[in-house]
Amino acid sequence: MQALYESSITSVPRLHKGKVRDIYALGDAHMLIVTSDRLSAFDVILPQPIPGKGAVLTAVTNFWMARFTHILPNHLAPEVDLTKYLTPDEIRQIEGRFVVVKKLKALPIEAVVRGYLIGSGWKDYQKTGAVCGITLPAGLQLADRLPEPIFTPADKAPVGQHDENISYAEVEQRIGKDLAAQVRDATLAIYREASAYAAERGIIIADTKFEFGLDAEGRLHLIDEVLTPDSSRFWPAATYRPGISPPSFDKQFVRDYLETLDWNKQAPGPQLPAEIIEKTAAKYREAQRLLTGV
Ligand SMILES: Nc1ncnc2c1ncn2[C@@H]1O[C@H](COP(=O)(O)OP(=O)(O)O)[C@@H](O)[C@H]1O
Ligand SMILES: [Mg+2]
Repeated sequence: MQALYESSITSVPRLHKGKVRDIYALGDAHMLIVTSDRLSAFDVILPQPIPGKGAVLTAVTNFWMARFTHILPNHLAPEVDLTKYLTPDEIRQIEGRFVVVKKLKALPIEAVVRGYLIGSGWKDYQKTGAVCGITLPAGLQLADRLPEPIFTPADKAPVGQHDENISYAEVEQRIGKDLAAQVRDATLAIYREASAYAAERGIIIADTKFEFGLDAEGRLHLIDEVLTPDSSRFWPAATYRPGISPPSFDKQFVRDYLETLDWNKQAPGPQLPAEIIEKTAAKYREAQRLLTGV
């Protein structure tokens, strides 16, 4: 499989180009999500692809989506015949790294769940003793495991801005009490099951973000990507110690390398040596293998 930095599909209109995903319309009711091999570090999309990364993210998301159908339905629409929309060449270009999904009404929140105290959660905690208004025990250290996973929703920030944490009350205001409770409960249920599963395979899921959407009947669906290295903090369980910031399972080689450069962490990002690219690609494949067995 060739690396894919950016998809070039002209048979259908492109709706969106994200940091990693390229999204196309398939009629009014469906979308094509292509996961490219783009990698972002420190919020900058690096100029080179990580070969195979898009296929890994696609396979990992599909694996989890299938696993959680007992909790809620998801957006996948494998029944749609892509050959009606794309040319054979276009399909070949995205083989192994696309999904066809129902176009749903995405809820205007990011459903974040945290099992460990890191990132913005750690910052909040140091300032206030709480994360998103949820008071935590005193004396927790950086990267400590929380007594219980917590639901810490965030705003969907416009491109280039950081997602901002919002309170549960704010979620209720935005989407209603009923739906807020459904989103929170599904988020926590999926995280509990996934983190127990991953822990047995040497991966700590420190935190992750889900997105949800509604169909025309108002039924809640799991959408977007699910429990990938891009939407989650995965830590190698073997080297985990509270008190120190754990290395990222997949991006550590890139981050360590970038820290050796005199780069201001603004676009454009620097070129990476071939060795860093290969090691990073191998880490993504390892995450897939550990989690999905393939
Ligand atoms: N089934 C779906 N229906 C509607 N919107 C969806 C669906 N699946 C994913 N999305 C939306 O697609 C967008 C993906 O774009 P984005 O997050 O910018 O890409 P990236 O993660 O590559 O940066 C998200 O806003 C997400 O809410
Ligand atoms: Mg996204």
